Amino acid sequence: MGFMDDLKKAGKDLSRALKDIKSAPFVKEMCKTTANMYRLGWDERNGGNISYLLDEKEVAEYLDLSKVIRTIPLAGVNEAEFDVTPLLGKIFIVTGTGKYFKNVEDDPETNLGIVRIAKNGVELLWGYKDGGRTTSELPAHLMCHMARLAADPENRVVMHSHPTHTLAMNYVHELDEKKFTHTLWEMCTECIAVFPDGVGILPWMLCGTNSIGVATAKKMEKFRLVIWAMHGIYGAGKTMDETFGLIETVEKAAQIYMLTAHLPRINTIKDEDMVKLVELFGLDYRKDFLNIK
Ligand code: 13P
Ligand code: ZN
Repeated sequence: MGFMDDLKKAGKDLSRALKDIKSAPFVKEMCKTTANMYRLGWDERNGGNISYLLDEKEVAEYLDLSKVIRTIPLAGVNEAEFDVTPLLGKIFIVTGTGKYFKNVEDDPETNLGIVRIAKNGVELLWGYKDGGRTTSELPAHLMCHMARLAADPENRVVMHSHPTHTLAMNYVHELDEKKFTHTLWEMCTECIAVFPDGVGILPWMLCGTNSIGVATAKKMEKFRLVIWAMHGIYGAGKTMDETFGLIETVEKAAQIYMLTAHLPRINTIKDEDMVKLVELFGLDYRKDFLNIK
């Protein structure tokens, strides 16, 4: 047999050896998480998006990484301001633009895509079966990944969502990072331990643009949670659970705030008690967000 035959045979063997992508843990995690977010009422219609940095070796167990289905340009990006170099060649699984979280679990191949970051856009390796594209927020996600990876090389997930009570709170609470974080910390004992770094806040801005991406990433240098005023929230973390848990805890605190804000406050968690908790866990926290001298 000649060299080309050997190569063809090796290719065939490789494709035969590939595992079913729908059984991949990262596809299952995306399905489970989007279904949970929908069930909790956080992501109406196509609201919300997730990007998840994958391990190339793990993806290669399921996909032939030399097969690019098509290249998708990055929409809404000003290339001069957006340098994707640190992420070149990295592979992400990403929710599709206009896709409904409620539908992901039943049809992951249409609603999700696996893409590799390239200079001129992203290379589609799997998914978006109906000709779909990455979330319109991908530039913001990628900029957040770069900012979080610089702060924590183990960061993998960026999640955007429209959680109901967090959004409601945006309309009735001052949008000041210190005051907003402090109120959230007061709502459940463990809030300060879950997000000791607090919550960053951006004013209302046009979504899907370069500028909101740059501004979010800037906040992500310090915060793992960033509120987009009157729109929703961004969270970042090492795992899907950690990221989901961050947003879930903010949302729980915001719910308690919205259930009690119109009632006389008789009891509260004191700042001194919050300090005891973070000290018990040995956590670094935003001391300047507490009212203790
Ligand atoms: P996509 O459908 O493009 O992901 O947008 C949803 C969204 O929440 C925009 O902020
Ligand atoms: Zn949104």
